[in-house]
This record gives sequence, structure tokens and C-alpha cells, in this order.
Amino acid sequence: MTKTALITGITGQDGAYLAKFLIDKKYEVFGTYRRLSTPNFWRLQYLDIFENVNLIPADLVDAGSMVEAVEISKPDEIYHLAAQSFVGASFEQPIGTGEVTGLGVTRILEAIRQLNPEIKFYQASTSELYGRGHSSSLTENSQFQPASPYSAAKLYGYWLTKLYRKGYNIFACNGILFNHESPLRGLEFVTRKISNAVAKISLGIEKELYLGNLEAKRDWGYAPEYVESMWLMLQQKEPDDYVIATNEAHSVKEFTEKAFDIVGLDWQEYVKVDKRFLRPLDVNFLQGDYSKAKKKLGWAPKTNFDELVKIMVKEDLNRWVRWQSGERFPWDAPNYPSEDKIISRYQRIDR
Ligand code: NAP
Ligand code: GDD
Repeated sequence: MTKTALITGITGQDGAYLAKFLIDKKYEVFGTYRRLSTPNFWRLQYLDIFENVNLIPADLVDAGSMVEAVEISKPDEIYHLAAQSFVGASFEQPIGTGEVTGLGVTRILEAIRQLNPEIKFYQASTSELYGRGHSSSLTENSQFQPASPYSAAKLYGYWLTKLYRKGYNIFACNGILFNHESPLRGLEFVTRKISNAVAKISLGIEKELYLGNLEAKRDWGYAPEYVESMWLMLQQKEPDDYVIATNEAHSVKEFTEKAFDIVGLDWQEYVKVDKRFLRPLDVNFLQGDYSKAKKKLGWAPKTNFDELVKIMVKEDLNRWVRWQSGERFPWDAPNYPSEDKIISRYQRIDR
């Protein structure tokens, strides 16, 4: 029998890849999107699945719209991916981030509890929960020490998910996903900011790249592989929480160096540190131990760090070449302003 899934945040990186994955598995896919002044469906169009998804307007701050989304789609599974997901922005909008990224989880869990507690629920938890002060690979049992309004809101969502599992017997799972990237990544995240800038610099469209904390290390995986783990969690006999990662950490500096290497340029000639991109607090090390996911879900990463950097730089380069030759296709970069235009009051308090 055909299964039905509801994806909140289907317009985002993971939402688009997950929709494609589930369509390939013959699911009927519904997704929530926000009313914006300009349509934002480029990722679904890029993956050529726009015609195969059902879109429902909803906003996480509006509980009624989430109830409506569940009523309309009547899902077997809900993948809750929508969030204010940019850590940097959470320092500028801490209250909004709490509303959307934190309380939004409760709004959708309440809709499940009241309408149909049989619906299986995936919560997009994050390695940001671990926060600062770690120096070794992290497991499901490592200590959480959030270091941003974003991660504090996600910690609330994590606990609400566990609470609805235990208290109401809802099949609710936390996927504790470490950073995962792709050519569909938002342009403000550091990997895509770098791959896009490297492509532009190598074609002479841009001259410099301004970054913040180059020493931060992240466990970076490839997003299309990570969405499979979300589905696997909801196919198990019992609900549980899982770390999804590569078990390797690399610095922003390493990513930058490798990305410039791919186009034959020396990164040190183009990259400058700008304190506007330093956060009031930053997490300097995140690396995840995915042994439990490997053992119980049969999941393991396939794409390594070098391959990931190459995929991202090559795709952005290819897009700029096509664009410059007059081809037009759904894509975010041409409309993205230079970050010089963005004024924020970040202050470096601590690294
Ligand atoms: P993303 O590309 O930023 O997508 C976020 C999605 O949430 C977008 O569809 C966005 O809609 C939607 N959204 C934002 N505010 C909303 C609101 N008020 N109401 C309804 N929808 C709203 O994020 P992602 O990288 O795909 O990540 C997916 C989820 O996994 C997020 O919850 C993120 O925090 C979490 N996560 C991500 C990573 C990672 O490395 N990517 C790691 C761990 C956890 P618009 O398109 O309209 O903005
Ligand atoms: N964005 C950005 N821009 N980050 C920079 C820059 C810059 O110019 N320069 C250095 N960095 C550093 C950040 O300070 C951070 O330490 C690291 O690069 C990664 O930043 P992001 O790419 O913005 O990702 P993130 O790790 O903060 O958050 C992402 O991963 C989390 C999982 O750990 C997001 O996808 C979150 O939603 C997700 O939960």
C-alpha cells in the first residue's frame, strides 16, 4: 500500500532531498511551505520533482496551519525539518528562533497527539546540541551544552520529542545529525559560501572571500545520504535516537584550502578574516560516532570530505559557467546579495 509522508520545510536542503528519496520509494509526498513575497521552490525544481509533490501553506508559528497540514495530508509519517536553521541568525533573532525552532516542535507534536497518535514522527535534532567543550567523538550519550539560541531551542525540541514518545506512546525519533552539505545548501552556511565564492573568484566575477572563525572544526557529510537515515529511523520496530555523522572532523581552513586547490588557486591570496562573521559564542569542535546507526539502521556515510568539497565546488563552477553563457535555470546564487550589504551587530565575546 502507498505510504504518505508530510515533510515540514520541503523547500529547504534536506526537505528537497528527502522528498526525492521518498518519491523514489513510491510515497505520496506532501510538504509545507511558507507564503513569501517571492516563490522559493528552486531546490524542488532543480531536482525535477516539483510536479510530484503536494504543497500545503503553513507556518510553524501558526498552530492552526500545522493542524490543517496534518488533516489535509493524513500522513503515515511526519518528517519535521522546518526550522530557523542558521545558528548565526539565532543570535540576531533569539526570540523568533525559540518560537519557530523550539515551540514549532510542540505545535506539530500536539497536532499528532490530538489528531492521530499513530503517525510516526522524525525530529531534526542536531550536533549543535553538544555545544562547546568537547574534543572527542560524540555519541547519543554525550553531554549537551548548547552554545547558541538555536541549539537551546533545538534542545527543547529534542526533549519534547522524547517526552511525547514516553508520555503518549508516540513513535517519535530524534535524528542527531551532524553537519551535512550539498550543492543545495543555503548560501549563508560556510561550505556553500566558500564553494560559491571559489567558483566566482576562479571566473573573475569576484575578488575576495571574507570568513569568520577559520579554526572551527565540523563533521561534514553529504546531505543526500543523510536523508536516508531519517527514513530508516521511522522503519524500525521501536522509536529511538541516533547520531548520524562521518566520524571525521575538519576545519573551516581545511575546507577553504581544498576548495581553492580544486581551481588551482592559493586560498591565502583571496581569503580575509572579517569579525562580522564571528559569533558571540562558537562551537570549535564537533565529530560524531555513528556506530549505533550503523549497527541498528545499517546506515554509514559513503562520501568522504575530499569528495564532498569537490562535488560542491564543481557544481557551483558549472552553474556559473552555464549562467555566464546565457543559460537560465532555477538557482539561488544570482539573487543573493554580497554579504557586504548585510549589517549585523555580532560582537566577538568569546571563541
Ligand atoms: P534549511 O535549508 O534552512 O531549510 C529550513 C526549512 O524550514 C525551509 O524549508 C524553510 O522555509 C523552513 N522554515 C523556516 N522557518 C519556517 C517557519 N516559520 N514556518 C515554516 N517553515 C519554516 O535547513 P536544512 O539544512 O534543510 O535542515 C533541515 C533541518 O535539519 C532543520 O531543522 C535544521 O535545523 C536541521 N539540521 C540541519 C543540519 C545540516 O547540517 N543541514 C544538521 C542538523 C540538523 P523557507 O524555504 O521558506 O525559508
Ligand atoms: N556561516 C558562516 N559564515 N560560518 C563561518 C564563517 C562564515 O563566513 N566563517 C567561519 N564560520 C564557521 C562558523 O563560525 C561555524 O563554526 C562553522 O563555520 C560552521 O558554520 P555554518 O556553516 O554556519 O554551520 P553551523 O555548524 O553553525 O550549523 C549548521 O550545522 C548544524 C549541525 O551541527 C546548520 O546546518 C545547523 O542548522 C545545524 O544544526
